[in-house]
Amino acid sequence: MSPALSPRPPASVIGRRVNRVEGRAKVTGQGRYAADHHPAGLAYALGVGSPIAAGKLLALHTAAAERAPGVIAVLHRGNFPKLTPSPNNFSDGTKVGEVRLPFADDTIFYAGQWIAVVVAESFAQARAAARLIRADYREDPPELSLGTAQWPERSQLSADAPDLTRGDPDRAWREAPVKVEATYTTPVEVHNVLELHAATAAWDQGKLTVEDSTQWVVGARKALAKILDTPARDITIRAPFVGGGFGGKLFVWGHTIIAAAAARKLGRPVKLVLERKQAFTVVGHRPATRQRLQVGARTDGTLVMLRHDSVMHTSKVDEFVEVCGEATKVMYRCPHLAVTHRLVALNVGTPTPMRGPGAVPGLFALECAMDELAVKLRLDPIELRRRNEARKDPQSGLPWSSKHLEECLDVAARRFGWKQRQAQPGSMRDGSEILGWGFAAATWPGWRMAASARVELRRDGSAKVLCATQDPGTGTYTVVAQIAAEVLGLPVEKIEVAIGDSSHPEGPISGGSMATSTVVPAIAAAARAALDNLRRLAVSRRGPLAGAAAGALIWRDGVLTDRRRRRSAPLAQILASAGLTQVKGEATAGPGAEAKKYSFRSFGAHCVEVRWDPGIARLRVSRVVSAFDVGRIINRQAAENQVHGSIVMGLGMTLQEASLYDPRTGRVVTDNLADYVMPVNADTPAMDVAFVEHPDLRIGEFGARGVGELGMAGVPAAIANAIYHATGRRFRDLPIRIEHLLG
Ligand code: MOS
Repeated sequence: MSPALSPRPPASVIGRRVNRVEGRAKVTGQGRYAADHHPAGLAYALGVGSPIAAGKLLALHTAAAERAPGVIAVLHRGNFPKLTPSPNNFSDGTKVGEVRLPFADDTIFYAGQWIAVVVAESFAQARAAARLIRADYREDPPELSLGTAQWPERSQLSADAPDLTRGDPDRAWREAPVKVEATYTTPVEVHNVLELHAATAAWDQGKLTVEDSTQWVVGARKALAKILDTPARDITIRAPFVGGGFGGKLFVWGHTIIAAAAARKLGRPVKLVLERKQAFTVVGHRPATRQRLQVGARTDGTLVMLRHDSVMHTSKVDEFVEVCGEATKVMYRCPHLAVTHRLVALNVGTPTPMRGPGAVPGLFALECAMDELAVKLRLDPIELRRRNEARKDPQSGLPWSSKHLEECLDVAARRFGWKQRQAQPGSMRDGSEILGWGFAAATWPGWRMAASARVELRRDGSAKVLCATQDPGTGTYTVVAQIAAEVLGLPVEKIEVAIGDSSHPEGPISGGSMATSTVVPAIAAAARAALDNLRRLAVSRRGPLAGAAAGALIWRDGVLTDRRRRRSAPLAQILASAGLTQVKGEATAGPGAEAKKYSFRSFGAHCVEVRWDPGIARLRVSRVVSAFDVGRIINRQAAENQVHGSIVMGLGMTLQEASLYDPRTGRVVTDNLADYVMPVNADTPAMDVAFVEHPDLRIGEFGARGVGELGMAGVPAAIANAIYHATGRRFRDLPIRIEHLLG
C-alpha cells in the first residue's frame, strides 16, 4: 500500500537508537527549567485558591498578609491589572486553558479557583503570608455529578463534536442478529507532570520574557499578546526544558497570565510555581466520562452497526470536549454508525487534553465492547478485529495514506504467543495464579501542521538548528539533530539544537503526537536550503567553484565537488571566499495536496497478560506486547520510551488513577501524590514494543507519523479484557481496584 522504502545509505542515522542529545544537560543540572531562573530583583508569587466550589466571594481580608514580613503586594480582583480575554482559537495560536481570566469577577466556579496572589521577597514569605488571607463567601451547593442518565437534562452539544450518523444505525440495531450493549465509565485523571507548572516573567523596557513550562511557546506568545495587549514581537516565551506535559501544558493557564501581569504592575520579575495540590484544579485534567456502546453484528462477527454515546463534564467557565467517539468512526468497517457527545458543566476546573484525549477513554469503551462481542460469538478477539478491518477510511471514504493494522495484529500475537490462549475464562493457570490474556486494538490521527526552521552551517563544520518547538521529554531535540545530521551529512554530535524559544522560526506545538511529523520535513528543507545557499556562494564570481552549475555540485563530508571540472572546495574555503563565518537556510514546510486525498492514521495492537492470585487478592499486569504502525521511526530509543511511558500511564488509568471531589465541598480529596495513586516501578510490566515500519511518505519526507499517544490508546481495554479472561468478570468502570475484584 505505501510507497516502498528507498534504500538508505549505510551511514544513515535515521531509525537508530540515538541517545538524547540534551541528556547530559539534564542529568548534570545544566538544563534550566522554568523555575530555575533567578533574574535580579526577582519576587516570588504564590496563588491562593478558593476553598469553596460554588458561590460568591463577598469580601477578601488581606491586611494581615500585606503586613507580613517580605510581602510586596497582595493582588486580587480589586487591584489586579485589567486584562483582555484571549480569542481562544487553536488555529490562530490563541487557545488558552481556561478562557475566563483570573480575578475576572467575584463568582466562584470551582474549588481552587484563584482568588488572590501574594508576591513576596521569598517563596517562604509568600507562603506564610498566603495563609493569613481570609475571605467571606456565599456558598452554593456545588454541582459535581454527571448524573446517571445517558442524556442528562442540562447537557449541551458542543460545536467541537457534532453528532455523526452513518447509514441507519437504529434500524441496524433492531435487526442485528448479535448485540452487545454496555455502559463504561472513566474517572477524572490528572496529568501529574513531574515538573510543576511554573512561570518566571520579566519585563524590560516594555518587552516581556517568560520562562514558561509549556508545550507550545508559539501559542503562549500569541495568547499572552492578546491578554496583555502587547505586540507579539515584544514577547518571548522560553521553554528549553520541560519536565513532562502530557497535554497539561499545551495552553496558557492562569498562573502564567498572573506572573506576567504582576511583573508588569510591580516592575519586578515575578516567579509563580504551582503547589502540587493546585495542579489538581487550575491546570486541567481529563474529564470523567460515561459512554454507552451498542454493537450489532452478524453471527460471523461482521459488524453491522456501532453506536457510541458519550457524556463528559466541562467547567462552568469554558468548554472542553473529550471526543470519545473520534476513534470509533474510523476503527472498523461498519455501515451504520452513530457517535454523539454531550457536555455537563460542573463546578470543577476546566478539563484539557491529556495523553490521547478522546481516543484513550473512547477506545476503553469500544475495545471492551468488541471483547464482549467476541465472547458472545465465541470468536477469538483478534480474529474479530481481522474480520472487520477497514480497507479505507469508513467515515470519509478516503484511502489510507498507509495502514498496516493487520500486520500489527500478527506481530503482536506472534511475539506474545497468543496461539496458546485458551478461551475459557480462568482456565490458564500458573501455580496459585490465574493468567488472563486480553487484547485491544488502537488508533490515533496522523496529524501534521506547517512549521518553519533555520539551519546555520558554520565554518568549523558544525551546524545549528533553530525552531520554536519544544521537547517535553519526548525526544524532539534528538530527532531534530538526527534530521539535520542526515541531510547535512554531519555526525549528530556536530548539530546544536536550539528549540523552546518563541523567537526562533515558528515550530509546532508538542501535542497530538504531531511534533515529529511536523518538524522533520521543515528541518530537512531548511538544511537543504543552507546547502543550496552554500552552493550559490561556491559558484559565485568570487567563489572557489566559480562558473560551475550550483545544482550539479556534490556535497560530501564538508566538501563541495564539481565533478565535471574535477574541482572541489571545503566549506571553510567557500565561506571565507564570501567573507562569512556561516551560511543560513530557512524553510517552511507544511502538508500539501496529499493531505486532502488520503486519511492519515496510526494503528496499534496490544496483547496483555495479567496474573490474578485470588488467594491473596493480588492482581498484576505481568506482560504487555504491543505492535505499532506509525510510519518511519526516526529514533528507535525515543519512540520506545514514548510507548513505554504510555503503556504505564494506561496501566495507571486502568488499575489506580482517579481524582475525586468531595461531593459536599467540591474540593479535590486526592490532591497529592500519595492519595492520587499512580504506577511505580514495581507496577511496571515487562514490555515488548515492536514497530512495523512502513514509511508514510504521503505525510511528509522521511515518512514519520509520530509516536506517543497511540501507545496509551487501547491499553486500558486490553488490561480490562485480560482481567475478564482471568476472572470471568466484566469490569466496565475505571479504575478497577482490588476492592472491586473482591466484591
Ligand atoms: Mo498531548 S494530550 O496532545 O500533549
